[in-house]
Amino acid sequence: TTIYVPRDSAALAAGADEVAAAITAEAARRGLAVNLVRNGSRGLFWLEPLVEVQTPGGRMAYGPVAPQDVPGLFEAGFLSGGAHALGHGVTEQIPFLALQERLTFRRVGVTDPLSLADYAAHEGWAGLQRAAAMPPAEVIHEVTHSGLRGRGGAAFPAGIKWKTVAEAVADQKYVVCNADEGDSGTYSDRMTMEGDPFMLIEGMAIAGLAVGATHGVVYIRSEYPHAVATMNEAIALATQAGFLGEDVCGCGRAFHLEVRKAAGAYVCGEETAMLESIEGKRGIVRAKPPLPALQGLFGQPTVINNVITLASVPIILARGADFYRNYGVGRSHGTLPFQLAGNIRHGGLVEKAFGLTLRELIYGFGGGTRSGRPVKAVQVGGPLGAYVPESKWDVPLDYEAYAAFGAVVGHGGIVVHDDTADMAALARYAMEFCALESCGKCTPCRIGSTRGVEVIDRIVRDERRAEQVILLRDLCDTMLAGSLCAMGGMTPYPVLSALDHYPEDFGIAPPSER
Ligand code: NAI
Ligand code: SF4
Repeated sequence: TTIYVPRDSAALAAGADEVAAAITAEAARRGLAVNLVRNGSRGLFWLEPLVEVQTPGGRMAYGPVAPQDVPGLFEAGFLSGGAHALGHGVTEQIPFLALQERLTFRRVGVTDPLSLADYAAHEGWAGLQRAAAMPPAEVIHEVTHSGLRGRGGAAFPAGIKWKTVAEAVADQKYVVCNADEGDSGTYSDRMTMEGDPFMLIEGMAIAGLAVGATHGVVYIRSEYPHAVATMNEAIALATQAGFLGEDVCGCGRAFHLEVRKAAGAYVCGEETAMLESIEGKRGIVRAKPPLPALQGLFGQPTVINNVITLASVPIILARGADFYRNYGVGRSHGTLPFQLAGNIRHGGLVEKAFGLTLRELIYGFGGGTRSGRPVKAVQVGGPLGAYVPESKWDVPLDYEAYAAFGAVVGHGGIVVHDDTADMAALARYAMEFCALESCGKCTPCRIGSTRGVEVIDRIVRDERRAEQVILLRDLCDTMLAGSLCAMGGMTPYPVLSALDHYPEDFGIAPPSER
């Protein structure tokens, strides 16, 4: 019997290693032969550690399993899918999973992340093999036509970026994967690297062949030790198997890949600060232009994409641009792995085509708050994203529709707060975070964030409140328009959205009562 116990950090944090050990020990005690596979996480975090058993009727789910539950599970016959209080039936039929459209995450939690055979058996390398046999310009055309846009947050068309790099003339070009996933409440990059590392490798190799880069770097945040280890192992295996190295898939072209560990600065997720960091310098933002696509790593043309952008490429090449393009709405094509976090009953990963609403995510998938209290505010797009008020929860999630009301979809992080949240404190936190993480290169961010904390404090203490609110808006204007990068440029989003939609938390009467 094959039993799956995830090796993903989220499952490990919930005790997956102990559960795996308990299963092995119990099986031995009973003289039963079990094949224990350490898979990625299915992304149903409230059920981790989620143990699955392969049965003729499909994989059956049990969770959250604690080591002390293991003897009882054996007793209940879980090896043949027997009923138990922790049982959830066939994994794929759990509504949270069944209602998703998993393209990028279709293998995550299903396969053994470090098994080349498993990867190949689940459509692995099909995209790279096709790309290796195509002229590079056609690969880029395919990516452009798919409508894939940057999943790190800025949503720039991936194909156009690749074309810029491909057309630049240089002896050396690079592909850099930004895996410095710093947004609060986000983990889709981590789950990909830990749960399906070959997919990212495949996407990067396709990018390398398409733009003529022979060297790639995966820049992973140091807080992700398991992702670093899994990526390193996967790169070694893929190189041995000929999917990386001097002769990728026998096409005569080279692509080498290495992992670089970040040092813990949020701003190093900004692409140019990341390049400085990889070059061994302090992580300070570079002015653009020049674009990294033309002068990036060590001054050479460089493709920089987020993990999910690159991981979306293999399926586009394998199944064709139209297949991917037909998911989504408007100019937001394909799917996005949304990540539910904060005060939410069913936290986890939801991959869906663009166009669903926040209400569907937080109630349909998330089941409302974990505390059982009403939802008050939802921050979408990381710590620099806006707080989206209830009046906007039915707007379809797509890049343009969100931009139209001053919010961002970003990297798909969704953090839910209940009615005990103090929005003035959260606005203050945004300014404090900016002050802490600012690289210091430009004044609106370096000084503005510190002044922002002080101004919010005065508003809350009611020291010349009306005047200070005007000052805060002025300051946010300056940061929005005058900052060199998104750190200072986006901090006003959470601050202003909190002030606009929850004025009473700042001691200001709501518009209707003024
Ligand atoms: P940006 O709009 O300046 O650039 C987007 C990308 O397109 C960059 O890679 C840029 O070099 C490239 N680009 C722009 N014009 C180009 C052209 N003509 N040819 C080729 N390439 C071109 O945005 P930026 O500053 O890179 O990213 C900001 C975003 O990052 C925000 O929207 C935010 O949501 C997101 N973010 C994500 C975080 C995460 O943890 N994933 C953390 C913090 C922010
Ligand atoms: Fe540095 Fe902040 Fe300016 Fe960005 S906005 S360059 S983080 S000081």
